Amino acid sequence: MKQPNIGFFTEENSIETVKSRHKDCDNPRLKKIMDVMIEKIHEAVKEIEPTQDEWMEAIKFLTAVGHKSDDWRQEYILLSDVMGVSMLVDAINNRKPEGASESTVLGPFHLADAPEREMGENICLDQKGSQVLVKGRVLDTEGTPIKDAKIDVWQANDDGFYDVQQKGIQPDFNLRGVFRTGEDGKYWFRAVKPVHYSIPDDGPVGDLTRALGRHAWRPAHLHYILSADGFETLVTHIFDPKDPYIESDAVFGVKASLLCEYQKINDPERAEELNFKNPFLISEHDFILVRKS
Ligand code: BEZ
Ligand code: FE
Repeated sequence: MKQPNIGFFTEENSIETVKSRHKDCDNPRLKKIMDVMIEKIHEAVKEIEPTQDEWMEAIKFLTAVGHKSDDWRQEYILLSDVMGVSMLVDAINNRKPEGASESTVLGPFHLADAPEREMGENICLDQKGSQVLVKGRVLDTEGTPIKDAKIDVWQANDDGFYDVQQKGIQPDFNLRGVFRTGEDGKYWFRAVKPVHYSIPDDGPVGDLTRALGRHAWRPAHLHYILSADGFETLVTHIFDPKDPYIESDAVFGVKASLLCEYQKINDPERAEELNFKNPFLISEHDFILVRKS
């Protein structure tokens, strides 16, 4: 005989039963978050109908993600990255007016204490890779140059590793620098053409992407954080449009407005001024920052 439902958990009422347990929560944001999470997770479980073994696999996977994480390695962020969640959170929090430079993910390899460098300096300290002059302007949305804008740039070396991944192999602060614009908003520095590289794939997130038949490559890019008094800080990358992985970034970071070609320059005099071999490359891109409201 069917028992009367007196509020015990059933497959049918699972969402309402669990949500009602925190109906008196005095933190409305937490209540909202948990309401939605319970709804979506229960809906997913009802659709997937996992076996007990599959559920245990999921628990073991999340446990392994936790064990792989420490002060240096953040496997949960990597999981969020490969699921497109990092880019979605970034998009929601960085809606910009038409014409403004777009944002993308920060990634794990930024250093807060990179050295301030003179405009024009070479950030490549390991003498590897194709030499490139990176230049452009930092402007507001009306096209007015922004003076004293801070340009914090970092990139992987020609072997596809950041200095922090190869301590003792690469010089400290290789391919990093902080530059400040003058009155004209212009910036320029010397670097190397970035190459595509793999996100760290020696953990459970790498196992997951392999099981899904996905690759772990990120298309070649330079990372930037641009900031200036009175303007919203911009965290972004500039990508090589010719990179073979440009349409399949492992972390979904590419946007059409963040592509910038490398032009080959054959100019022996200019090469000599730059202390480059001729021919060399130029990559030119203007950043448009949004005024704080
Ligand atoms: C990066 O571009 O540095 C990066 C971003 C997300 C995950 C791993 C690396
Ligand atoms: Fe990167």
